Amino acid sequence: MEYRRLGSAGMKVSVISFGGWLNFGEGVMAEELAGQLITTAYDQGINFFDIADIYRKGEAETQMGKILKQFPRQNLVISSKVFWPMSDNVNDRGLSRKHIMESIDASLKRIGTDYLDIYFCHRHDPETTALEVARAMTDLIQQGKILYWGTSEWTGQEVQEVCDVCEKYHLYKPQTDQPQYSLVHRKRVEQTLLPVTKKEGMGLVVWSPLGQGFLTGKYDGGIPENTRLGREKWAQERFFQGDLAERSRKLQPIADEMSITRGQLALAWILHEQGVSSAITGATQKEQLLENVKAANITLSEQTLAQLNDLFNPALESE
Ligand SMILES: NC(=O)c1ccc[n+]([C@@H]2O[C@H](COP(=O)([O-])OP(=O)(O)OC[C@H]3O[C@@H](n4cnc5c(N)ncnc54)[C@H](OP(=O)(O)O)[C@@H]3O)[C@@H](O)[C@H]2O)c1
Repeated sequence: MEYRRLGSAGMKVSVISFGGWLNFGEGVMAEELAGQLITTAYDQGINFFDIADIYRKGEAETQMGKILKQFPRQNLVISSKVFWPMSDNVNDRGLSRKHIMESIDASLKRIGTDYLDIYFCHRHDPETTALEVARAMTDLIQQGKILYWGTSEWTGQEVQEVCDVCEKYHLYKPQTDQPQYSLVHRKRVEQTLLPVTKKEGMGLVVWSPLGQGFLTGKYDGGIPENTRLGREKWAQERFFQGDLAERSRKLQPIADEMSITRGQLALAWILHEQGVSSAITGATQKEQLLENVKAANITLSEQTLAQLNDLFNPALESE
Protein backbone atom coordinates (compact mmCIF):
# COMPACT_ATOMS: atom_id res chain seq x y z
CA MET A 1 0.00 0.00 0.00
CA GLU A 2 1.12 3.54 -0.71
CA TYR A 3 0.36 6.32 1.76
CA ARG A 4 0.09 9.98 0.84
CA ARG A 5 -0.03 13.10 2.93
CA LEU A 6 -3.41 14.77 3.13
CA GLY A 7 -2.23 17.72 1.05
CA SER A 8 0.21 19.77 3.11
CA ALA A 9 -0.78 18.04 6.39
CA GLY A 10 1.58 15.59 8.07
CA MET A 11 -1.08 12.89 8.40
CA LYS A 12 -0.93 10.15 5.79
CA VAL A 13 -3.81 8.21 4.26
CA SER A 14 -3.73 5.02 2.22
CA VAL A 15 -4.18 5.85 -1.47
CA ILE A 16 -6.99 3.31 -1.60
CA SER A 17 -9.51 3.87 1.17
CA PHE A 18 -12.82 2.29 2.06
CA GLY A 19 -16.25 3.90 2.45
CA GLY A 20 -19.66 2.92 3.78
CA TRP A 21 -22.15 4.90 1.67
CA LEU A 22 -24.69 2.43 0.22
CA ASN A 23 -23.06 -0.79 1.38
CA PHE A 24 -23.08 -0.37 5.19
CA GLY A 25 -25.79 -0.32 7.83
CA GLU A 26 -27.90 -2.91 9.57
CA GLY A 27 -30.16 -4.73 7.13
CA VAL A 28 -27.97 -3.67 4.18
CA MET A 29 -24.78 -5.50 5.00
CA ALA A 30 -24.70 -8.62 7.18
CA GLU A 31 -22.55 -8.21 10.33
CA GLU A 32 -20.26 -11.02 9.30
CA LEU A 33 -19.62 -9.68 5.80
CA ALA A 34 -19.11 -6.15 7.15
CA GLY A 35 -16.50 -7.51 9.55
CA GLN A 36 -14.81 -9.52 6.82
CA LEU A 37 -14.61 -6.51 4.48
CA ILE A 38 -13.16 -4.15 7.06
CA THR A 39 -10.67 -6.73 8.32
CA THR A 40 -9.59 -7.41 4.74
CA ALA A 41 -9.21 -3.69 4.08
CA TYR A 42 -7.14 -3.23 7.24
CA ASP A 43 -4.98 -6.28 6.51
CA GLN A 44 -4.30 -4.93 3.03
CA GLY A 45 -2.96 -1.69 4.49
CA ILE A 46 -6.04 0.51 4.16
CA ASN A 47 -5.95 2.93 7.08
CA PHE A 48 -8.62 5.42 5.96
CA PHE A 49 -12.32 4.67 6.50
CA ASP A 50 -15.00 7.15 5.38
CA ILE A 51 -18.59 7.36 6.60
CA ALA A 52 -21.25 10.03 7.17
CA ASP A 53 -24.04 10.65 9.64
CA ILE A 54 -26.59 10.51 6.80
CA TYR A 55 -25.56 7.04 5.56
CA ARG A 56 -28.60 4.98 6.62
CA LYS A 57 -29.30 7.73 9.15
CA GLY A 58 -26.43 6.86 11.46
CA GLU A 59 -26.49 3.09 10.97
CA ALA A 60 -23.36 3.00 8.80
CA GLU A 61 -21.45 4.90 11.49
CA THR A 62 -22.68 2.47 14.13
CA GLN A 63 -21.85 -0.66 12.13
CA MET A 64 -18.45 0.46 10.89
CA GLY A 65 -17.52 1.96 14.24
CA LYS A 66 -18.26 -1.29 16.06
CA ILE A 67 -15.97 -3.24 13.75
CA LEU A 68 -13.19 -0.65 13.71
CA LYS A 69 -12.96 -0.86 17.50
CA GLN A 70 -10.94 -4.06 17.22
CA PHE A 71 -8.00 -2.11 15.75
CA PRO A 72 -5.68 0.30 17.59
CA ARG A 73 -7.18 3.77 17.17
CA GLN A 74 -3.84 5.31 16.14
CA ASN A 75 -3.68 2.96 13.13
CA LEU A 76 -6.92 4.41 11.73
CA VAL A 77 -7.96 7.57 9.96
CA ILE A 78 -11.72 7.84 10.45
CA SER A 79 -13.84 10.48 8.77
CA SER A 80 -17.50 11.37 8.97
CA LYS A 81 -19.66 14.19 7.66
CA VAL A 82 -22.31 16.73 8.58
CA PHE A 83 -24.87 18.67 6.52
CA TRP A 84 -27.84 16.55 5.36
CA PRO A 85 -31.06 16.59 7.43
CA MET A 86 -31.11 13.92 10.15
CA SER A 87 -34.72 14.69 11.14
CA ASP A 88 -37.57 17.11 10.39
CA ASN A 89 -36.21 19.58 12.94
CA VAL A 90 -35.38 22.87 11.22
CA ASN A 91 -31.97 23.01 12.92
CA ASP A 92 -31.07 19.36 12.40
CA ARG A 93 -29.45 20.16 9.05
CA GLY A 94 -26.94 22.42 7.36
CA LEU A 95 -23.70 23.85 8.66
CA SER A 96 -24.87 26.17 11.41
CA ARG A 97 -22.71 26.22 14.53
CA LYS A 98 -25.62 24.59 16.36
CA HIS A 99 -25.91 21.69 13.93
CA ILE A 100 -22.15 21.13 13.68
CA MET A 101 -21.68 21.15 17.49
CA GLU A 102 -24.60 18.78 18.07
CA SER A 103 -23.79 16.49 15.13
CA ILE A 104 -20.19 15.82 16.09
CA ASP A 105 -21.22 14.48 19.49
CA ALA A 106 -23.84 12.23 17.90
CA SER A 107 -21.36 10.88 15.34
CA LEU A 108 -18.63 10.26 17.93
CA LYS A 109 -21.12 8.36 20.07
CA ARG A 110 -22.37 6.20 17.20
CA ILE A 111 -18.84 5.43 15.96
CA GLY A 112 -17.58 4.87 19.50
CA THR A 113 -14.50 7.05 19.33
CA ASP A 114 -13.26 10.17 21.13
CA TYR A 115 -12.28 12.02 17.96
CA LEU A 116 -12.56 12.00 14.18
CA ASP A 117 -9.45 12.38 12.09
CA ILE A 118 -11.38 14.30 9.43
CA TYR A 119 -14.80 15.95 9.64
CA PHE A 120 -16.40 16.90 6.33
CA CYS A 121 -18.97 19.55 5.51
CA HIS A 122 -20.96 17.22 3.28
CA ARG A 123 -22.20 20.07 1.04
CA HIS A 124 -21.91 23.86 0.97
CA ASP A 125 -24.64 25.62 3.00
CA PRO A 126 -25.74 28.89 1.39
CA GLU A 127 -27.54 29.80 4.64
CA THR A 128 -24.43 29.78 6.84
CA THR A 129 -21.48 32.11 6.38
CA ALA A 130 -18.01 30.76 5.69
CA LEU A 131 -16.87 32.44 8.91
CA GLU A 132 -19.48 30.63 11.05
CA VAL A 133 -18.49 27.25 9.55
CA ALA A 134 -14.74 27.87 9.89
CA ARG A 135 -15.08 29.06 13.50
CA ALA A 136 -17.13 25.98 14.45
CA MET A 137 -14.59 23.66 12.83
CA THR A 138 -11.68 25.49 14.46
CA ASP A 139 -13.39 25.16 17.85
CA LEU A 140 -13.87 21.41 17.31
CA ILE A 141 -10.17 21.08 16.55
CA GLN A 142 -9.32 23.04 19.70
CA GLN A 143 -11.68 20.84 21.73
CA GLY A 144 -9.86 17.75 20.40
CA LYS A 145 -13.01 16.34 18.81
CA ILE A 146 -11.58 16.45 15.29
CA LEU A 147 -8.04 16.68 13.94
CA TYR A 148 -8.69 18.10 10.46
CA TRP A 149 -11.73 19.35 8.62
CA GLY A 150 -12.74 19.23 5.00
CA THR A 151 -15.38 20.18 2.47
CA SER A 152 -17.27 17.92 0.10
CA GLU A 153 -18.73 18.84 -3.27
CA TRP A 154 -17.99 22.53 -2.72
CA THR A 155 -17.14 24.58 -5.80
CA GLY A 156 -13.61 25.88 -6.23
CA GLN A 157 -14.92 29.35 -5.50
CA GLU A 158 -16.58 28.24 -2.25
CA VAL A 159 -13.40 26.50 -1.13
CA GLN A 160 -11.36 29.59 -1.96
CA GLU A 161 -13.76 31.81 -0.01
CA VAL A 162 -13.53 29.74 3.17
CA CYS A 163 -9.73 29.51 2.88
CA ASP A 164 -9.52 33.31 2.57
CA VAL A 165 -11.74 33.73 5.64
CA CYS A 166 -9.53 31.31 7.61
CA GLU A 167 -6.43 33.23 6.58
CA LYS A 168 -7.97 36.55 7.62
CA TYR A 169 -9.24 35.37 11.01
CA HIS A 170 -6.39 32.94 11.80
CA LEU A 171 -8.67 29.90 11.77
CA TYR A 172 -7.87 26.31 10.71
CA LYS A 173 -8.26 25.92 6.94
CA PRO A 174 -9.96 22.88 5.44
CA GLN A 175 -7.26 20.31 4.69
CA THR A 176 -9.17 18.28 2.11
CA ASP A 177 -12.16 18.27 -0.22
CA GLN A 178 -14.17 15.17 -1.13
CA PRO A 179 -15.52 15.42 -4.68
CA GLN A 180 -16.86 12.83 -7.10
CA TYR A 181 -13.95 12.06 -9.44
CA SER A 182 -13.38 9.32 -11.98
CA LEU A 183 -12.65 8.83 -15.67
CA VAL A 184 -16.31 9.53 -16.38
CA HIS A 185 -16.55 12.56 -14.09
CA ARG A 186 -13.50 14.76 -14.53
CA LYS A 187 -14.49 18.17 -15.77
CA ARG A 188 -15.59 19.99 -12.62
CA VAL A 189 -12.69 18.71 -10.54
CA GLU A 190 -9.95 19.36 -13.05
CA GLN A 191 -11.17 22.70 -14.33
CA THR A 192 -12.38 24.42 -11.18
CA LEU A 193 -11.45 22.52 -8.01
CA LEU A 194 -7.90 21.17 -8.32
CA PRO A 195 -6.39 24.59 -9.15
CA VAL A 196 -7.72 25.90 -5.81
CA THR A 197 -7.03 22.84 -3.64
CA LYS A 198 -3.44 22.55 -4.93
CA LYS A 199 -2.78 26.23 -4.27
CA GLU A 200 -4.22 25.90 -0.74
CA GLY A 201 -2.29 22.72 0.10
CA MET A 202 -5.43 20.57 0.31
CA GLY A 203 -5.41 16.90 -0.74
CA LEU A 204 -8.48 15.49 -2.49
CA VAL A 205 -10.03 12.25 -1.27
CA VAL A 206 -12.35 11.31 -4.10
CA TRP A 207 -15.61 9.36 -4.16
CA SER A 208 -17.06 6.85 -6.62
CA PRO A 209 -13.66 6.40 -8.30
CA LEU A 210 -15.01 3.30 -10.07
CA GLY A 211 -18.17 5.11 -11.18
CA GLN A 212 -20.12 2.97 -8.68
CA GLY A 213 -18.70 -0.14 -10.38
CA PHE A 214 -19.52 1.00 -13.95
CA LEU A 215 -15.85 1.32 -14.87
CA THR A 216 -15.07 -2.28 -13.90
CA GLY A 217 -16.98 -3.54 -16.95
CA LYS A 218 -19.51 -5.46 -14.82
CA TYR A 219 -22.40 -3.90 -16.76
CA ASP A 220 -21.18 -4.75 -20.25
CA GLY A 221 -23.83 -7.44 -20.62
CA GLY A 222 -26.71 -5.68 -18.79
CA ILE A 223 -27.53 -4.71 -15.23
CA PRO A 224 -27.79 -7.67 -12.81
CA GLU A 225 -30.27 -7.06 -9.96
CA ASN A 226 -27.79 -7.78 -7.20
CA THR A 227 -25.39 -5.00 -8.10
CA ARG A 228 -25.13 -1.32 -7.19
CA LEU A 229 -26.87 -0.10 -10.35
CA GLY A 230 -29.40 -2.94 -10.15
CA ARG A 231 -30.40 -1.84 -6.65
CA GLU A 232 -30.01 1.90 -7.11
CA LYS A 233 -31.97 2.49 -10.29
CA TRP A 234 -31.61 6.28 -9.98
CA ALA A 235 -27.88 5.93 -10.56
CA GLN A 236 -28.26 4.17 -13.91
CA GLU A 237 -28.91 7.29 -15.96
CA ARG A 238 -25.59 8.78 -14.87
CA PHE A 239 -23.77 6.08 -16.75
CA PHE A 240 -26.00 4.82 -19.52
CA GLN A 241 -26.05 7.98 -21.58
CA GLY A 242 -24.54 8.83 -24.95
CA ASP A 243 -21.64 6.60 -25.91
CA LEU A 244 -20.28 6.23 -22.37
CA ALA A 245 -20.83 2.47 -22.21
CA GLU A 246 -19.13 2.02 -25.56
CA ARG A 247 -16.12 4.13 -24.52
CA SER A 248 -15.92 2.24 -21.24
CA ARG A 249 -15.62 -1.04 -23.16
CA LYS A 250 -12.56 0.38 -24.91
CA LEU A 251 -10.74 0.26 -21.58
CA GLN A 252 -10.59 -3.53 -21.84
CA PRO A 253 -7.77 -3.86 -24.43
CA ILE A 254 -5.75 -1.20 -22.59
CA ALA A 255 -6.13 -3.12 -19.31
CA ASP A 256 -5.41 -6.44 -21.05
CA GLU A 257 -2.17 -5.07 -22.45
CA MET A 258 -1.02 -4.36 -18.87
CA SER A 259 -2.46 -7.62 -17.46
CA ILE A 260 -4.66 -5.68 -15.04
CA THR A 261 -8.42 -5.27 -14.72
CA ARG A 262 -10.49 -2.34 -15.98
CA GLY A 263 -11.23 -1.32 -12.40
CA GLN A 264 -7.54 -1.29 -11.51
CA LEU A 265 -6.83 0.82 -14.59
CA ALA A 266 -9.51 3.33 -13.55
CA LEU A 267 -8.11 3.57 -10.00
CA ALA A 268 -4.48 3.80 -11.14
CA TRP A 269 -5.50 6.66 -13.45
CA ILE A 270 -6.92 8.59 -10.49
CA LEU A 271 -3.79 8.04 -8.43
CA HIS A 272 -1.48 9.42 -11.12
CA GLU A 273 -2.88 12.84 -10.11
CA GLN A 274 -0.73 13.94 -7.18
CA GLY A 275 -3.42 16.38 -6.03
CA VAL A 276 -5.40 13.29 -5.00
CA SER A 277 -4.47 11.82 -1.62
CA SER A 278 -6.85 8.87 -1.71
CA ALA A 279 -9.52 7.14 -3.82
CA ILE A 280 -12.41 6.12 -1.56
CA THR A 281 -13.70 2.84 -2.90
CA GLY A 282 -16.75 0.82 -1.96
CA ALA A 283 -17.08 -2.97 -2.04
CA THR A 284 -19.66 -5.62 -1.31
CA GLN A 285 -17.30 -8.58 -1.66
CA LYS A 286 -13.87 -9.38 -0.31
CA GLU A 287 -12.62 -10.21 -3.83
CA GLN A 288 -13.50 -6.70 -5.03
CA LEU A 289 -11.42 -5.16 -2.26
CA LEU A 290 -8.46 -7.45 -2.94
CA GLU A 291 -8.62 -6.46 -6.61
CA ASN A 292 -8.97 -2.75 -5.90
CA VAL A 293 -6.08 -2.41 -3.45
CA LYS A 294 -3.65 -3.73 -6.08
CA ALA A 295 -4.19 -0.49 -8.03
CA ALA A 296 -1.96 1.22 -5.47
CA ASN A 297 1.08 -0.46 -7.04
CA ILE A 298 0.30 0.31 -10.68
CA THR A 299 2.05 3.12 -12.55
CA LEU A 300 0.67 4.18 -15.91
CA SER A 301 2.95 5.13 -18.81
CA GLU A 302 2.64 8.46 -20.60
CA GLN A 303 1.26 6.56 -23.56
CA THR A 304 -1.50 4.93 -21.50
CA LEU A 305 -2.37 8.25 -19.86
CA ALA A 306 -2.69 9.82 -23.31
CA GLN A 307 -4.95 6.97 -24.48
CA LEU A 308 -7.21 7.41 -21.44
CA ASN A 309 -7.26 11.15 -21.94
CA ASP A 310 -8.47 10.70 -25.51
CA LEU A 311 -11.12 8.20 -24.47
CA PHE A 312 -12.46 10.17 -21.51
CA ASN A 313 -11.61 13.74 -22.36
CA PRO A 314 -13.41 16.26 -20.12
CA ALA A 315 -14.56 18.04 -23.28
CA LEU A 316 -16.76 15.00 -23.99
CA GLU A 317 -18.60 15.39 -20.65
CA SER A 318 -22.07 16.85 -20.60
CA GLU A 319 -22.59 19.79 -18.22
N1 LIG B 1 -19.02 12.99 -0.20
C1 LIG B 1 -20.02 12.51 -0.89
O1 LIG B 1 -20.98 13.21 -1.23
C2 LIG B 1 -20.01 11.06 -1.25
C3 LIG B 1 -20.96 10.53 -2.15
C4 LIG B 1 -20.88 9.19 -2.46
C5 LIG B 1 -19.88 8.38 -1.91
N2 LIG B 1 -18.99 8.92 -1.01
C6 LIG B 1 -17.92 8.09 -0.39
O2 LIG B 1 -17.21 7.37 -1.38
C7 LIG B 1 -17.26 5.97 -1.08
C8 LIG B 1 -17.16 5.18 -2.33
O3 LIG B 1 -18.24 5.46 -3.23
P1 LIG B 1 -18.77 4.29 -4.15
O4 LIG B 1 -19.19 3.14 -3.30
O5 LIG B 1 -19.74 4.85 -5.10
O6 LIG B 1 -17.39 3.91 -4.91
P2 LIG B 1 -17.01 2.99 -6.12
O7 LIG B 1 -15.76 2.30 -5.69
O8 LIG B 1 -16.98 3.79 -7.38
O9 LIG B 1 -18.20 1.91 -6.26
C9 LIG B 1 -18.27 0.88 -5.33
C10 LIG B 1 -19.20 -0.23 -5.81
O10 LIG B 1 -18.79 -0.76 -7.07
C11 LIG B 1 -18.79 -2.20 -7.02
N3 LIG B 1 -17.40 -2.64 -7.09
C12 LIG B 1 -16.34 -2.19 -6.37
N4 LIG B 1 -15.22 -2.82 -6.70
C13 LIG B 1 -15.54 -3.68 -7.67
C14 LIG B 1 -14.79 -4.62 -8.44
N5 LIG B 1 -13.49 -4.76 -8.26
N6 LIG B 1 -15.46 -5.37 -9.36
C15 LIG B 1 -16.78 -5.22 -9.55
N7 LIG B 1 -17.56 -4.36 -8.86
C16 LIG B 1 -16.94 -3.59 -7.91
C17 LIG B 1 -19.48 -2.58 -5.72
O11 LIG B 1 -20.90 -2.58 -5.89
P3 LIG B 1 -21.79 -3.87 -6.16
O12 LIG B 1 -21.00 -5.09 -5.81
O13 LIG B 1 -22.98 -3.66 -5.29
O14 LIG B 1 -22.15 -3.82 -7.61
C18 LIG B 1 -19.13 -1.40 -4.84
O15 LIG B 1 -19.97 -1.22 -3.74
C19 LIG B 1 -18.57 5.83 -0.29
O16 LIG B 1 -18.63 4.67 0.47
C20 LIG B 1 -18.50 7.07 0.58
O17 LIG B 1 -17.62 6.87 1.65
C21 LIG B 1 -19.04 10.24 -0.70
